[in-house]
Amino acid sequence: MTRRPRSIIEPFKIKVVEPLPMRTVAEREQILARAGWNLFGVRATDVTFDFLTDSGTTAMSAAQWGAMMVADESYAGSRSFYRFEEVVQRLTGYHHVIPTHQGRAAEHLLFSLHCKAGELVPSNNHFDTTRANLEQLGVTAVDLVCAEGKDLRSEHPFKGDVDVVRLESFLTEHRGKVPFVMTTITNNAGGGQPVSLANLRAVSAVCRRFRVPFLLDACRFAENAWFIKVREAEHRERSARDIAREMFDLADGCLVSAKKDGLVNIGGFIALRDGAWVPDLRSRLILTEGFPTYGGLAARDLEAMAIGLDEVLDEAYLAYREAMTRYLADGLMRVGVPTMRPPGGHAVYVDAHELLPQIPAAQYPAQALAVELYRAEGIRSCEIGSVMFGKRPDGTFVPAQMELVRLAIPRRVYTQAHFDYVLEGIAEIAERRATLRGLAIVEEPAFLRHFTARFAPL
Ligand code: F0G
Repeated sequence: MTRRPRSIIEPFKIKVVEPLPMRTVAEREQILARAGWNLFGVRATDVTFDFLTDSGTTAMSAAQWGAMMVADESYAGSRSFYRFEEVVQRLTGYHHVIPTHQGRAAEHLLFSLHCKAGELVPSNNHFDTTRANLEQLGVTAVDLVCAEGKDLRSEHPFKGDVDVVRLESFLTEHRGKVPFVMTTITNNAGGGQPVSLANLRAVSAVCRRFRVPFLLDACRFAENAWFIKVREAEHRERSARDIAREMFDLADGCLVSAKKDGLVNIGGFIALRDGAWVPDLRSRLILTEGFPTYGGLAARDLEAMAIGLDEVLDEAYLAYREAMTRYLADGLMRVGVPTMRPPGGHAVYVDAHELLPQIPAAQYPAQALAVELYRAEGIRSCEIGSVMFGKRPDGTFVPAQMELVRLAIPRRVYTQAHFDYVLEGIAEIAERRATLRGLAIVEEPAFLRHFTARFAPL
């Protein structure tokens, strides 16, 4: 007898719990006024559902907590380092493993040693910290994502793919000025969309032909491998681990923030196939992060990473992770809230421009929606629109290309019942969307204004 398809469930039982903070609408209105209607200014103890980021917000497993207790905190040659190193080597096939305290430390370390002012680094889309770490060195960060990746409605299964034709002409035009090519898996700045194995193979072949190293920004490598398994027909029978290994085989190294698919609250690493860059990286690591066998982390963090990097490739976990994101995205679509399609791996992006056509870009529709999600439902999200991108260096306003609200989903933290409750709340907001109004900025810093700007409702 064949079994009927069943629901995809959380593939874990819960051992440690933390109460959900609950506030009334009236309390949240006061909190918002004090925070200048900026959700970065709200305390986490006043947030019921925190979808600000999936980074470092993971619930660790009993095995991870257990391993932390037996970690070896020796300054040099810690047993925990060798355990971590072995896991990364087995996962990636890269021999050289350099721990850092998080992803941006890995970026800063590698870029400051191996890029020069005037050079250019292409990627599908650079994440903010990657871009900023390149730009502060005078390096130009160039986005070469495929055309479908810029279309919110396209159902293309791999909207994180690099436009390989443009990459080739780019490398021809800038020959000698590209220290390496990058690809972000999954493409966070482009909506958490995956990159196909076919595309990684093509990018790898182009890089070999031009003799340019190819590096992965691989913090969501397991989610990307899972999407290849379920969306790229010829790989359906392969394991996520086997697919992940081929992704790493196609590149020369990777930069990883383990705060995502490492299933930890802090940690990161650089791993490289070739040893040529390693002595410089290790010397600089000692200067800025710590000795090469701990790299800015406690050994207990290395233990937690070693286990997380294995646990994340459990296919019951990956199936559940994808199902949860899809559940939220499809639920929003059912209540008339438009989102970026198809759902990505770690987050759902709501199209506030389409949801709130009455609010012009200069009155920040995505911020207005983010504020209302918090005011009415205690949900914290992140504006990715004209607050974040609408100001030129000369201070003038230009509307962002898109007005998005990102709901990033912490790993193993919220249950399906939580998402049902969130969807019921958002459905009510969607019903009264015509009554929502925009905001004005009343105070802002010179740079990165989204973190500290203060607003006033209009
Ligand atoms: N690369 C990507 C693709 C990222 O998403 C992030 C962080 C980093 C690098 C930097 O890693 O935070 O450990 O220094 N993304 C988080 C987010 C902050 O919310 O998307 P980090």
